[in-house]
Amino acid sequence: MDTHPRMVVTRSLPAALMERIAAEAAAWVNPEDRTLTPAELQAVADEWQPDVMLVMAMDRIDADCIAALPASVRAIATLSVGHDHIDLPAARDRGIAVIHTPDILSDAVSEIAIMLMLCAARRAQEGERMIYGQTWKGWSPTQLLGRDVTGARLGVLGMGRIGRTIARRARAAFDMEVHYHNRSRLERGLEDGATYHDSAEGLLAVSDFLMLAAPSTPATKGFLNADRIAQLAQGAIVVNIARGDLVDDDALIAGLRSGHVAAAGLDVFNREPDIHPGYRELSNVFLQPHQGSSTIGTRVRMGEMLLDSIKFHLEGRDLPNRLV
Ligand code: DGY
Repeated sequence: MDTHPRMVVTRSLPAALMERIAAEAAAWVNPEDRTLTPAELQAVADEWQPDVMLVMAMDRIDADCIAALPASVRAIATLSVGHDHIDLPAARDRGIAVIHTPDILSDAVSEIAIMLMLCAARRAQEGERMIYGQTWKGWSPTQLLGRDVTGARLGVLGMGRIGRTIARRARAAFDMEVHYHNRSRLERGLEDGATYHDSAEGLLAVSDFLMLAAPSTPATKGFLNADRIAQLAQGAIVVNIARGDLVDDDALIAGLRSGHVAAAGLDVFNREPDIHPGYRELSNVFLQPHQGSSTIGTRVRMGEMLLDSIKFHLEGRDLPNRLV
């Protein structure tokens, strides 16, 4: 009898992971480099009758999708730390475990957070346009003057593992003064010198740089709206490495157009990849296509973590990275 778990893998993965999946599972892997439609996902699950669905943050695993999964499915493993794309109560109700990849991508995501912060502050998009557009006339004492990062105040919304990693690096590398707002105050050891604000308003008022690092939840969706943007100091810089839906795009674009928000560095967007066209018209933004965890080492470690967890789960062991 074949003891290999049956798996549906919704996207092709780096070679090291594909080799391990081929050796350890009987897997159907999406042969095309695109997200499956809900109907396609359901059709392949019906046909393959998997034990495990290995999915991505772009797959919508909502209540309808979970209700339609065949009875064979015992676990949904998502190659992401974020799990706002999965209806956890619906999975729990059907007795399906949900596994994600916390911790191991915090370093990679914090690297891109620092990159976005620096590129927004130092007007990287405008500089690149001068070079590639061949409009650079040579050094000038008034050319593309940006903002100092060193010593500035960094306001972090969401001091989970990623938020804390960003805060540590911002302090160590740039001597930034770190402030944060979170669902609750961290224990002193975890605060690591950061100042807690019990209201979002308090955080916004002190932030030279606002770093959105909170998960997408009903409480954080639409967080950065017109009212909150007005509470930021004139010339603040916004960075988002969390989820696009934390931001009201029209409000942020209006803030960037008026200069109230000096610049933004964004890695995540509403309705990816069809981002709000207003962003492309702005020169004071630095935009990346959801690249936070995209290093080869991190991606492979995320997959390894899931494959280990799937094995342990099917053996009936407890998992630290199980959500339900
Ligand atoms: C995550 O892990 O949540 C990243 O956004 C990649 O999907």
